[in-house]
Amino acid sequence: MAQLWGGRFTKETDQLVYNFNASISFDKRFYKQDMLGSMAHVRMLAKQGILTEEEQDVILAGIEGILKDVECGKLEISDKYEDIHSFVEAVLIDRIGDPGKKLHTGRSRNDQVALDMKLYTRDEICEIDGLVRELLVVLQRLMEEHTQTVMPGFTHLQKAQPITLAHHLGAYFEMFKRDRGRLFDIYERMNYCPLGSGALAGTTYPLDREYTAELLGFEGATLNSMDSVADRDYLIELLSALSTIMMHLSRFSEEIIIWNTNEYRFVEIDDAYSTGSSIMPQKKNPDIAELVRGKTGRVYGALISLLTTMKGLPLAYNKDMQEDKELTFDAFDTVKGCLALFTGMLDTMKFNKPQMAASARNGFTNATDAADYLVNHGVPFRDAHGVIGRLVLYCIEQGKAIEELSLEELKGISLVFEEDIYEAVSMDTCVNKRLTLGAPGERAMEQVIQRNREWLEAHGKLVD
Ligand code: ARG
Repeated sequence: MAQLWGGRFTKETDQLVYNFNASISFDKRFYKQDMLGSMAHVRMLAKQGILTEEEQDVILAGIEGILKDVECGKLEISDKYEDIHSFVEAVLIDRIGDPGKKLHTGRSRNDQVALDMKLYTRDEICEIDGLVRELLVVLQRLMEEHTQTVMPGFTHLQKAQPITLAHHLGAYFEMFKRDRGRLFDIYERMNYCPLGSGALAGTTYPLDREYTAELLGFEGATLNSMDSVADRDYLIELLSALSTIMMHLSRFSEEIIIWNTNEYRFVEIDDAYSTGSSIMPQKKNPDIAELVRGKTGRVYGALISLLTTMKGLPLAYNKDMQEDKELTFDAFDTVKGCLALFTGMLDTMKFNKPQMAASARNGFTNATDAADYLVNHGVPFRDAHGVIGRLVLYCIEQGKAIEELSLEELKGISLVFEEDIYEAVSMDTCVNKRLTLGAPGERAMEQVIQRNREWLEAHGKLVD
């Protein structure tokens, strides 16, 4: 047991209590952020005359040495310390002696951990944003390639109207674009430095909090010391944004799983991204898509868990908040893994164009257009709807598509039909006449693709 606070105690901590209380097994993840935060703190203390220049230099060199040794594996972060903060301070004192004892001047672990978690989370947001951007780049490429790949669009998972693959993928492009927007917003809102808030009530030392904030790349310092140590809102909104990313990935996965079935055969998942069965030799399973869909639950769980942890906490710091870490880290790892694998799977997936086009033709997806044809020839829409309903019924009985009927058969249903009906209900017409902004028609789609290309160029990395 190695802890920072033995002075007031007369008995050793029970070992089980110690283990239950300790956080080093998971907060060692932000060792680097902890040390960078300490270095900024020390620089500020020296600027304010709280530490001498010499003390500053010795402490900085000491922390740099620890950081280097941890990174190259020479120094192991031992679980015998209570948390990462205690580890760094103890090793520092061990290495440089008395000046090391001044590191924690004007600071509490409460503002320190608030800072570390923010620094770590900022980096994770950037990484996750980068991965969403890579997914958007792949989607953009596929959209450019598939503005003429006709497929059925669905409502209620029933064939509805013909669209293109570019249009279908474009829906996901919009979702992931909004996901990035949420990450940008959260980053901006959370980017204020809590360091210098002390345990809860600031400190009597003349700290320059704005200076520390600036050294660490924050927009400024937080404005209430109690809020600074008690705020986990930014994690909650981030977990909500991550849950939404997972929800989008999960919907997309579900579609890929359906498209990959023997019945649909719209796609073929690359061998590198599928798995076999131990018993059924013919199987090629969409496990990656299923796992992404499955892992969504973990991320939702993290969000609900943290909301529940926070709901009854009086101000300011409470140890309950230590529970913010493991589940958030797990959510970061899960989202990053899922994004990377999903993007790889999508990037290598083959689309079966003839099969998609045949599916669009076989499901009366042009029935609305047939009704519109009648409307354009003076039939009121409600009547046209009824006529085409009868026409579809006739087609089902005959086992034919609308365009496979002879003009004679068509006229048997409505005398309004003329030779130009065939052109009007062709897949090409059905798709390419839909030219409202955001619709699947090729020209409309190209306009949107161009706008999105510009958006991607304007929104490179979150932080340069
Ligand atoms: N491990 C703690 C946490 O994650 C650090 C802060 C400890 N502060 C305290 N007063 N015990 O929240």
